[in-house]
Amino acid sequence: TNWTRKLRYKKYDQWSDEYLRELKEMGQNSIWHSKYHVEPEFGLLNDPNGFSFFNGQYHLFYQYYPFGAVHGLKSWYHVTSTDLIHWHNEGIALKPDSKFDEQGVYSGSALSIDQQLLLLYTGNIRTTDNKRFSYQNAAWLKKDGSIQKEPSPLIEKLPAGFSSEFRDPQIIKCNDQYRVLIGAQTLQNEGKIAVYEGHHLHHLKYKGCLHFSDQPMGYMAECPNLIMIDQQPLLIFCPQGLDHQILNYQNIYPNCYIIGKNMDWENLQINEAGTINNLDDGFDFYATQVFAAPDGRQLAVSWINLPDLIYPNDADGWTGSLSLIKELSIKNGYLYQYPVKETKKLRHQQIRLDQIQTKSFELEAHISANQCGEIQLFKTKTTFLGVEIDARNGIVTVDRSQSSYPLAQQFGQTRQSFVPAHQDIQINIFADQTICEIFINDGYKVQTLRYFSAPEATKIITTEAINRCRVWELKK
Ligand code: FRU
Repeated sequence: TNWTRKLRYKKYDQWSDEYLRELKEMGQNSIWHSKYHVEPEFGLLNDPNGFSFFNGQYHLFYQYYPFGAVHGLKSWYHVTSTDLIHWHNEGIALKPDSKFDEQGVYSGSALSIDQQLLLLYTGNIRTTDNKRFSYQNAAWLKKDGSIQKEPSPLIEKLPAGFSSEFRDPQIIKCNDQYRVLIGAQTLQNEGKIAVYEGHHLHHLKYKGCLHFSDQPMGYMAECPNLIMIDQQPLLIFCPQGLDHQILNYQNIYPNCYIIGKNMDWENLQINEAGTINNLDDGFDFYATQVFAAPDGRQLAVSWINLPDLIYPNDADGWTGSLSLIKELSIKNGYLYQYPVKETKKLRHQQIRLDQIQTKSFELEAHISANQCGEIQLFKTKTTFLGVEIDARNGIVTVDRSQSSYPLAQQFGQTRQSFVPAHQDIQINIFADQTICEIFINDGYKVQTLRYFSAPEATKIITTEAINRCRVWELKK
């Protein structure tokens, strides 16, 4: 297919049943689907949206383009779960079918209010001369499952000084006040996070930009998310075009975080904000969304893949997955991310390392202080995914250069994570066909990535220094 702009923005009801049947069949025959991650049967998944708890279950939505593995006319696809592990497909929740979202129902968040779930999202509008308009729109999910869009945007006009790259609202409520954070770009091409406040959803007022750094945050800040962990603000966002002097990163766009001491809403200030960090050191990771669960946990979910890159399964008409659900915590000032404890439910059986015949597993391994070792995953005669662990210098290097399906080579073939030197290192790898989520020292560092290999490439080998290795087959 030649994915012209016109084709990408063709209306949903104009695609033939036959085309959809073929696309579905292609998706079903694809050898690349994972076993326990959320992903579309066909079409493209990108950002997680509206992560929330409402009416007795967890709700999660994702950016979805149904008609091919390209970024086209977006909608919100809806999945639900009671355990954060088994997700039920509920279908498309929000389609681009109103005059305030006709060229895309873009990213946003959700908040349970008075027995309904508010879905707050950006409506993308493009005029015939390709001028962009961004509206912050609302819709309500009712207990009976029906969804109703508000007739007009909650935020219709841009504040002075901003370009129409103005999207991805996160709504939070403190005391009686609603606050909305929006990813923004100024007319001088600076990435900013705009803040709105109001006691009423229909009277949200622009307050200014969030202050958290003296350094420039690229030309656009996508997907801002603020969450409190033990009274400390954690800000997660995606600053596009961030200067490499400010943050060392290799991916096309980084997904970053900053931890502060406390929040000063009066001055829109994150007090004593620390330095900017990569949220994940891996290759294919973006648009993380967080949410404070009613049980007191701070949860996160990410998009596995990156904007503007090509993956082998695109050819099968589908692409993109959501990460495992991760619990966030701050220990000794450091952010930790680890799959929620419910993930253990996926453990089907423990298997011997030398008898593994699946690419969907959890592997746990240790290495003692000052030792160096390597784990090679998905090994064939000539290819493997390398995880080199240097417990002398405290460096974990993931190397995907030895692959029959090279990915995004222009952005480098290795990624490194730094942990304290001269100490034991523990690694937990959650692999699922083409996905690897690697947690180092209980989530002190994480690397999320894709590695494509032949179906029979299930072998794992480890060097001598790697010890206490355990593997479980993971299944839903
Ligand atoms: C991030 C993003 C968001 C936007 C959405 C559109 O990947 O560009 O800023 O809302 O994707 O699908």
